[in-house]
Amino acid sequence: VRAVPAGNVLGASSPSDFLERCWQKRPKLIRGALPGFRPFIDRRGLFRLAARDDVESRLVLEQGGEYPWQVLHGPFSAARLRRLPARHWSLLVQNVDLHCLEGAMLLRRFSFLPGWRIDDLMISCAPPGGSVGPHIDSYDVFLLQAAGERLWRIGRDQKPEFVEGLDLRILRRFRPAQEWLLRPGDMLYLPPGVAHHGIAAGDCMTFSIGFRAPDVRELAIRRIEEQATADGELLFRDPGRRPQQYAGEITRTDRTALRRLLHQAAGEERTFDEWFGCQVTQLPECIRVPRPSRPLDGRRFTALFRKHGRLLRAAPCRAAFVRKPSGVVLFVNGRAVGLPAGHLAFAQRFSGDGVVGWSVLPRGSAGAPLLALLRGLYNDGLLVPP
Ligand code: SIN
Ligand code: CO
Repeated sequence: VRAVPAGNVLGASSPSDFLERCWQKRPKLIRGALPGFRPFIDRRGLFRLAARDDVESRLVLEQGGEYPWQVLHGPFSAARLRRLPARHWSLLVQNVDLHCLEGAMLLRRFSFLPGWRIDDLMISCAPPGGSVGPHIDSYDVFLLQAAGERLWRIGRDQKPEFVEGLDLRILRRFRPAQEWLLRPGDMLYLPPGVAHHGIAAGDCMTFSIGFRAPDVRELAIRRIEEQATADGELLFRDPGRRPQQYAGEITRTDRTALRRLLHQAAGEERTFDEWFGCQVTQLPECIRVPRPSRPLDGRRFTALFRKHGRLLRAAPCRAAFVRKPSGVVLFVNGRAVGLPAGHLAFAQRFSGDGVVGWSVLPRGSAGAPLLALLRGLYNDGLLVPP
């Protein structure tokens, strides 16, 4: 299986260079990250997305709202968006990768990082002066300039203080340390915690490839709650107790037993792995997965696959896999599917660049089970023709 062409979004840096020097550490400007890049959507297309009730969108009105920096949540009618003032607003549309295959394909170019760390492709558009204010994000982001120009300023390290009473957490004092004007195809990487402010220099569109990191506290709470409902209570028990010497002491034996129980509450490896894979491939609730107009039987599906030579993982489809001694567990939109070891190449491609060609099929009748799985994915709307 050919590796996905990954490094070609990082300019002169190789993925290992970038990961070693910059990832989670320091900002990096990449001029011409995507040379010849043409955005697959324009402002009208973004307005159309923002009008849909299965699409998450926000409008930030620095001026022209009921108060400064007002945030409105979509959907927004075309008439509402046409009434926007000439300056100082931003429209932000979340999860574009789950709605447009081109958006999904763009994220798949960042495959030097695991898919489960990627959150979404957010697209923003703004008129001159438009911005969401100086702020700090908790997650890594690649800011790809898609159309027009935007001036990015990043701040000095300082204790963040926010303006009170606003819809957004805007920094009270922002002291820029560096600034760059980004043109189409340029990209700025920011690790978490760097104060930044991007101001549209003219009409512009910015693609944010945003990452996520599980909050271990939240993860633990969710995991323990689900585990408790699955296994009943996990009560502390101490049938082998010896007489206590000092009644007030919490002994080492008790402490160790309690810590062991906490650990046990997170579940054993097998159940944890499946649970985590399902968690990170779950789609946001508002996302609908369109199915083909009619399901295909085996013969028709094989004919379609043969005709195109390859199929693509659909946009509203998050996938990941883990290797096990017994084979592979594939996760698709929050579901786990156990596969034999011979299906590893398929799992790698499907959850990676999303390109599933004939070559993943074992020859002859040995290919039948995988073909049936692919047909199921196609009929569920999770594989689509190119
Ligand atoms: C924007 O696209 O305007 C905001 C992106 C960000 O600052 O994270
Ligand atoms: Co930001």
